[in-house]
Amino acid sequence: TKGGYDFYMLKEIAEQPQAVADTLLSRFPDLSLDEVRKVVIIACGTAYHAGMIAGYAIEQWARIPCDVELASEFRYKDPILDASTLVIAISQSGETMDTLMALRHAKAQGARVLAICNTNGSTIPRESDAVLYTHGGPEIAVASTKAFLTQLVACYQVGLRLGAARGFSHADVTAALRAVPDQLRALLTRTDEIRELAYDLATARQVLFIGRHVGYPVALEGALKLKELAYMHAEGFAAGELKHGPIALIDEGTPVICVLPAPGDPLHGKVVSNIQEVRARGARTIVIAEEGDETIVPFADDVIRVPVTPALLAPLMTTVPMQILACEIAAARGHDVDQPRNLAKSVTVE
Ligand code: F6R
Repeated sequence: TKGGYDFYMLKEIAEQPQAVADTLLSRFPDLSLDEVRKVVIIACGTAYHAGMIAGYAIEQWARIPCDVELASEFRYKDPILDASTLVIAISQSGETMDTLMALRHAKAQGARVLAICNTNGSTIPRESDAVLYTHGGPEIAVASTKAFLTQLVACYQVGLRLGAARGFSHADVTAALRAVPDQLRALLTRTDEIRELAYDLATARQVLFIGRHVGYPVALEGALKLKELAYMHAEGFAAGELKHGPIALIDEGTPVICVLPAPGDPLHGKVVSNIQEVRARGARTIVIAEEGDETIVPFADDVIRVPVTPALLAPLMTTVPMQILACEIAAARGHDVDQPRNLAKSVTVE
């Protein structure tokens, strides 16, 4: 049942603190990481966005090169793989055909495959060399929410393990991860402003999302949620790319959702200028910013606050307002949030 919520999606968004806490306790599989020279991540849709974020974390924490590939494109580039390659297949359902075919291709080339999966005994973990389960519990709404956050947590654990295998210690990150469930609980108690904003945005012609570094995949994820639930034109961009073309999309009142890094981050100032640029063209800027960051106030029409966490973990926070926004905009437009048109929960065809 929906446990008092209007939609499964809202219930699943609310379950994220527990899902993250449970996934932090997930048993790490027996898998030697000492010989890994290269990591390749394969996934689709929302899981691919989790993979993009994982790519930043793995390269930063383990200093191992990491490619992130759309599973449906993977085989066609004839990827270079061998026994020193660790392939990570991320899938909530464990049945996504594109991901499964990519996994089979990787194995045939001699790579080892680690699955990150939410569904016990499904095909992708069965065909992998090892599996790290996410503990999101069943996800009923078609749009993925808690699975995404738990995929991130599992990916972070892989990144930390790969780092440890190469002698790097990231005790600060481990400590920060432990604080995440409580921070998410706090974040989820103040969603009223997002609901009001959703009502405002429900009549927009398009909504744009911008971010940099890990904020870029978060922008892509925000746009995907809005497309699939609200059937609105939504695009995510790397904020630095705006001036190379997409800024032409902006006219008076275009909503732009901006993912701002923390004030101490080397990219903070750059994203602030990107926000000023779109605002100068008439955009309505909705900024997702860390608590206490006042620098953005003059350039933001709306500010959504998220708890303080290390840069690479920030997507665990910044994605949540986007999920709620997409859900509420879809509801305001009268759509079936849990069963959007043309979509199935698990895509078992190529
Ligand atoms: C978006 C969504 C899809 C899935 C994708 C992969 O909200 O749910 O993009 O993320 O189809 O599915 P899994 O993770 O089951 O392989």
